[in-house]
Amino acid sequence: MIREFRPSESARLFELLKENFPEEEALYGSRPGAWNRVVRRIYRWDVRVLVGLMRALGRPIFRFFTVEMDGRIVATTIVSFTPRAGYISMVMVDKPFRGRGYARALMERAREAAERAHRRYVALDVLADNAPAIALYRSLGYEDLREVGLFSRPLAPVVPVDATPVLPLPPGLRPYRSSDREALVAIASRAIPATVAEVLPLNRRALDSSYSLDRILSSESGSWVLEQDGAPVAWSSVTVSDAMEAAGLSSPIVGESADPAQVDALLRTGVEWCARRGAARIVCQTPLEHRRSVAALERAGFSIAHRLRTLYRSAAHA
Ligand SMILES: CC(C)(COP(=O)(O)OP(=O)(O)OC[C@H]1O[C@@H](n2cnc3c(N)ncnc32)[C@H](O)[C@@H]1OP(=O)(O)O)[C@@H](O)C(=O)NCCC(=O)NCCS
Repeated sequence: MIREFRPSESARLFELLKENFPEEEALYGSRPGAWNRVVRRIYRWDVRVLVGLMRALGRPIFRFFTVEMDGRIVATTIVSFTPRAGYISMVMVDKPFRGRGYARALMERAREAAERAHRRYVALDVLADNAPAIALYRSLGYEDLREVGLFSRPLAPVVPVDATPVLPLPPGLRPYRSSDREALVAIASRAIPATVAEVLPLNRRALDSSYSLDRILSSESGSWVLEQDGAPVAWSSVTVSDAMEAAGLSSPIVGESADPAQVDALLRTGVEWCARRGAARIVCQTPLEHRRSVAALERAGFSIAHRLRTLYRSAAHA
């Protein structure tokens, strides 16, 4: 009964997402036409070959499990593979089919996939007020790892949309280069408590936006750093996508020595970049323990739309 998602089911998936994740949907505002194109591109033959190859090599990128009833999917769960944890998302069961154990079965399948891929943990984020889901995860042995804020900032879009480069950048700012990565990873890692780093260490590749990923997701990204004394001390990266009304801001990295006024200019650069591309708002998911990042977001006009809890457990069979 549990099987992999098929790309021909993207319209049904879109419908289920709208019904089951109303808070996220209101925040991100997905656009159905572009969404279908993105799903088709993710499942295009050449991407499928790559995903299949990685799985055959024991290095799966993600698994997308569904429950089918009478020819329609009624429940879903995705597990993607971070370095140490299977990260579970999109856990949902269509209303008429709830209470039959489908979510529990899908969670078990996701855990098994993580264990088989030699991940030590499974982890997920859940809205802090989602009592049924938290009850499900607790009953499966999940424990608290950290609190995360889903921050949002409305934008007054620039009309007409004008994506020409904004020049010059404020003093001290410049576009991100991959040679900045190690210094920024060191700063960001210092802000992550050891308990969190054990399960979800910083993904160093997350700093480099990928041209091919941008193509697949119909998105465009911009990343900048604040440089002091020849070294990067803060980083900010934004993405806009045809598939969503909202732009995404990666959790900003803010070093101990970074000048707050210049950090504000760094964040403003990203905000303006998104506004000029017609985004309605910017959404940013940031762990609340990253105090300097949270303070910078608040100064830049972001506020918490929702609180999330990251939960985790061992991927080994209990
Ligand atoms: C959360 C959700 C997936 C549960 O689906 P479900 O079909 O009811 O799940 P199951 O039948 O497998 O239930 C498993 C356990 O979840 C818990 N649970 C489910 N619904 C619950 C509720 N309304 N109140 C309290 N506990 C609940 C129970 O512990 C249950 O075990 P039990 O039946 O032995 O008591 C479903 O409510 C849903 O799709 N919600 C909307 C999307 C969502 O919020 N997903 C979570 C994102 S992080």
